[in-house]
Amino acid sequence: MLIAANWKMYKGPRETREFLDRFVPPDGVDVVICPAYTSLHAAVESGRTVYAQNVHWAEEGAFTGEVSAAMLVELGVQGSIVGHSERRQNFAETDETTARRAEAALAAGLGVIACVGETEQEREAGETEEVLRRQVGVLPRDDGLVIAYEPVWAIGTGKTATPNVAQEAHAFIRSLHDTEVLYGGSVKPDNAAELLSQPDVDGALVGGASLDVDSLTAICRAAIPS
Ligand code: PGA
Repeated sequence: MLIAANWKMYKGPRETREFLDRFVPPDGVDVVICPAYTSLHAAVESGRTVYAQNVHWAEEGAFTGEVSAAMLVELGVQGSIVGHSERRQNFAETDETTARRAEAALAAGLGVIACVGETEQEREAGETEEVLRRQVGVLPRDDGLVIAYEPVWAIGTGKTATPNVAQEAHAFIRSLHDTEVLYGGSVKPDNAAELLSQPDVDGALVGGASLDVDSLTAICRAAIPS
């Protein structure tokens, strides 16, 4: 079971250190912390597994504001999220750029959490499978890649996919790509156990509820089958 904490644009180095000094997850669950770039060093120093929230596909070059896979490797970072819906919606990320970022990260030896998921409009129009087929279809086949199913309508909204809706989407994704599939979208201590008990849910990508030590710890506990 893998629990990844996506801290988005929260927590500078000081708060990162304070959090990780207090954070003691239970045995038997793999935890990945994904802080902002400026907090990566502090997070790596804690000895935890650390992923970035994005990575560029070029080795170097004139790409203002971007960070390469080699730079992350040099820092001791072990992987990166790619294709998060906030990047797709606000920063013009596409299926193609997501795939390029994933390929470059994998080639540099980084792990990848590649995010996919339909919007509310797409779900209502019955296009969920079509969208997932398109988003998953471009992703590299590689042992270092896991997919996070994050229905856009469930991210930061408090609307969680029901365990059945998540299970159905996960099974479909797994029929397209033989890899672990994490669920993301308003995962909280009180809904984690039920979501994580679904047969094709292999872990969670947690945003808001990962910002508090006790809440992230409770989600990690819920990931351990009783
Ligand atoms: P949320 O975010 O848990 O706050 O809904 C999940 C994510 O965006 O990865």
